Amino acid sequence: MNQPVMRGVELNAPTYVKNAKLLAWVAEIAALTQPKDIYWCDGSQEEYERLCQQLVDAGTFKKLNPAKRPGSFLAITDPSDVARVEDRTFICSQNQDDAGPTNNWMAPAEMRALLQTGNNALFKGSMKGRTMYVVPFSMGPLGSPIAHIGIELSDSPYVAVNMRLMTRMGRAVYDVLGVDGEFVPCVHTVGAPLEAGQADAKWPCNKTKYIVHYPETREIWSYGSGYGGNALLGKKCFALRIASTMGRDQGWLAEHMLVLGVTNPEGRKYHVAAAFPSACGKTNFAMLIPPAGFEGWKVTTIGDDIAWIKPGADGRLYAINPEAGYFGVAPGTNMLTNPNCMRSLDRDVIFTNVALTDDGDVWWEGMSDEAPAHLIDWQGKDWTPQIAKETGAKAAHPNARFTVAATNNPALDPEYDNAAGVAIDAFIFGGRRSTTVPLVTEARNWTEGVYMAATMGSETTAAAFGQQGVVRRDPFAMLPFMGYHMADYFAHWLKVGEKLQAQGAKLPGIFCVNWFRKGEDGKFVWPGYGENMRVLKWILERVEGRGQGQANVFGVSPSYGDLHWSGLDFGPEQFDKVIGIDRAAWQQEMKLHDDLFTQLGAKVPQALRDVKAKIEAQLQG
Ligand code: OXD
Ligand code: MN
Repeated sequence: MNQPVMRGVELNAPTYVKNAKLLAWVAEIAALTQPKDIYWCDGSQEEYERLCQQLVDAGTFKKLNPAKRPGSFLAITDPSDVARVEDRTFICSQNQDDAGPTNNWMAPAEMRALLQTGNNALFKGSMKGRTMYVVPFSMGPLGSPIAHIGIELSDSPYVAVNMRLMTRMGRAVYDVLGVDGEFVPCVHTVGAPLEAGQADAKWPCNKTKYIVHYPETREIWSYGSGYGGNALLGKKCFALRIASTMGRDQGWLAEHMLVLGVTNPEGRKYHVAAAFPSACGKTNFAMLIPPAGFEGWKVTTIGDDIAWIKPGADGRLYAINPEAGYFGVAPGTNMLTNPNCMRSLDRDVIFTNVALTDDGDVWWEGMSDEAPAHLIDWQGKDWTPQIAKETGAKAAHPNARFTVAATNNPALDPEYDNAAGVAIDAFIFGGRRSTTVPLVTEARNWTEGVYMAATMGSETTAAAFGQQGVVRRDPFAMLPFMGYHMADYFAHWLKVGEKLQAQGAKLPGIFCVNWFRKGEDGKFVWPGYGENMRVLKWILERVEGRGQGQANVFGVSPSYGDLHWSGLDFGPEQFDKVIGIDRAAWQQEMKLHDDLFTQLGAKVPQALRDVKAKIEAQLQG
C-alpha cells in the first residue's frame, strides 16, 4: 500500500499496517505535532523492556531491586501532575445540552481552534524533539463482539509501556482492524516540545492541560499531562466517556464498574458488576477473599474498574472488562486489606509516586503497621517516621498508583478473557457515606434501582479531590466519566431495562451498599474488606429468590438474622447502626436528590421523579 507522503518525518509504518484511514491520520497528526520520528509499537516483551530501559536512562524510571521486585520500576512524576484533572476535562458535543450540566463544554470548532487549527494551537509542534509512539490497543478481548479498538498517538514512552499493561496492545490489533476497520483515534502529548539541544525533564508536562472528547466524531485529544487517566486514553477517556456515547447510540452500557465472579460451595457461579466512586475500595472488592465462616466460597476477578455490558440474544446482559490491567491506588493496600492485590504486585509492576526503600523496594502509607526507618519519598526527599511526625509529609502521594497486568492476579477469573463476556446477575452501587445510607438495600424493580444509582452520593477523599468529607452526588459513580447528558443516561438505563423486560428477560437485581457508616466514636462500624462477603451472599440469595428481607422506604434490606454471621463477632446492636434508616436524615437526603434533579433539569425521566415522590410520601407518612 502507498503510504501518505509527508514533509519532515518518515511515516515508517510496518507493512502489516494496512488500514488506509489509520495511515492517513497518523500522517496528519505527525504533520501537526512535528515529532522527530514515529515509532509503531508491536506490543512485544522485547519492546516493553527496551522502552522501560529508555525510561530508566532518561531518569523517569528507577529500576527496583530485582531480588525484591523483579521486572519492576518506580516512576516519579512532576509534583503538579499527580491526578486526573476533572476541571480541565471537556465534552465537546455540537450542542451544549448534549454534554449536560455536569460536564465542562466548549463548542467543537472553538476547541479545535485552540488545540489544532488556530495560529497558536497547542498541538502545533507540540511533539518537537520527541518520538511519536503509535499505540494500537483493543479494549476487551481481541475480536470480541463487545470489544472496540483504539489507536493512541503519544509522545510519552511512559504511556506506551503503561498501555501495554493496561490494554491488549500490539501488532495483533492490526489483524482485527484490517484495511477498513473502525478505531477510536486518541491523540496525546505531554505538551513539552524540545528545541535542538534542550535537555529533557524527567517528567515532562505542561501547566496547561486539556482532556478533550468529541463524542460525535469519537475522538480524544489530551494535552499537557502524562499521568494516569489523563494520558492512558483507553481508560476513562475511551472506555467510559466515549464508550458511554457509543453505548447510548448502539443500545449497550459502558460503566465504571468492577466485575467479579462468585462461586458458592455447591459450585453455582454468579457474576456481579459493582459501581463505586473513585477511592471507595473497588480493587479490594474485586479481589475479595471470603472470610472465616465462608469455607467453600470463591471470589474471582474479571475487572476492577470498568465494564462494557451488552444485551445478549437470550435477553441477559453480558459484561467484559475492556481493560487488561489494573491502575490501582497503592496507599492503604496491604496483606490484610487486599492480599490478592499485594500478591499481584510481587513482580512486573510500574509504580508511580510511591516511596523508595533503602534496599531498592517500594513502600506506601498503610503497607505495613511500622514504617521503614528511612525512605526516599515520592518527591525525592529523605523521609523518616520522625520527619513525618513533625511535618506531616507523606512518603507516597495519596494518589500513588501501581500499573500491573491482570494476569498477575492470583484470583483472576477464568472467564476474564472470554470474548462473549459473562452474564450479570446483580448490579451493586455504593458510595462512601458515614451516615444515612444502610449497609445494603435491594431495589424492588429496575426503575427503583436506576433511581438508587442515579441519586448515589459519596464523601470525597483527599486522594481524589483535595477537600475531604464533602458529600458529592455521583450518579452511577459516573460523574467524572459521563460522555453525555447525565439525565439522558438515566433514560438510557431505563430504556435498556424496558427493552429486555419486553423480551421476557429476568433483569439483574439492583442493590445499593454502604461499607462506610461511622459510629459516634468516628470509627467505621462495619469491618468491610473480606467481611463484605456477608453482604454479597445475601445479595446472591435474593437473586436466587430465597433470601429474606424487610421492606423499607426505598427498597428491601436484611434483618440481623438474614445475614450469615459465622466467623465474625458482630452483634444486632452494631448491625442496627449500619442498617438503620433515620427518617430525619432521609428527609434531608431527599433535599439533596432534589438539588440533583433541579441541576439536571427537564430531561430527568418522569419515572424517576415518580420514584422520588413515592419515597417522599412514605417519609411523610
Ligand atoms: C480510577 C478513578 O483511577 O476512578 O479508577 O479515579
Ligand atoms: Mn475508576
